[in-house]
Amino acid sequence: MYRMLEVFVKKYTLQLDSLTATEIFGLYLGQNANSGDIICLDGDLGAGKTTLTQAIARGLDVDKNCYVTSPSFAIMHEYPGRIPLFHMDFYRLQDAAEVEDLGFDEYFYMSGLTIIEWSERATEILPEQRLSLKIILNDDESRTVVMEPGTEYSHDLLLLVNKCRQLMED
Ligand SMILES: Nc1ncnc2c1ncn2[C@@H]1O[C@H](COP(=O)(O)OP(=O)(O)O)[C@@H](O)[C@H]1O
Ligand SMILES: [Mg+2]
Repeated sequence: MYRMLEVFVKKYTLQLDSLTATEIFGLYLGQNANSGDIICLDGDLGAGKTTLTQAIARGLDVDKNCYVTSPSFAIMHEYPGRIPLFHMDFYRLQDAAEVEDLGFDEYFYMSGLTIIEWSERATEILPEQRLSLKIILNDDESRTVVMEPGTEYSHDLLLLVNKCRQLMED
């Protein structure tokens, strides 16, 4: 059954050739985010997960003076914006059980935008409706984002990605 479903999972890719491209993409994601949305960010250290989160925060109108940092040690930071931003980082966590022990899974259902770096630590407890972004750092320092949207995100994401591509060409 799962194998059959996988055939229907749509993936989109977006090429981010510069920091500016990442900022454009993040800004759009933030501006278009709805309360209850979940964005998962995976990829190696230095790929750009926190950088993208900073741009998303700008798109959510999080105060410019509110510097968005990696929450590795605290695991979760909350920032007020157009809607609240819950920024989590599971890097230091072992597995889904630890996420649940610490109660972070409760944030998946809060009204705000939840961003989870290193979400793959706990894939099995993530809500199905989420936007999963994997950032790949290429040899030439550009980034490729592989996007897997839950069905509720598919349509909006395609529009957004096309808009970003146009902007990046300008
Ligand atoms: N196109 C790009 N997108 C994102 N980050 C980039 C890009 N080009 C260069 N960088 C740099 O790469 C680094 C990414 O670091 P960071 O966002 O902390 O990664 P992560 O959170 O994935 O570990 C930053 O110093 C950022 O300025
Ligand atoms: Mg980070």
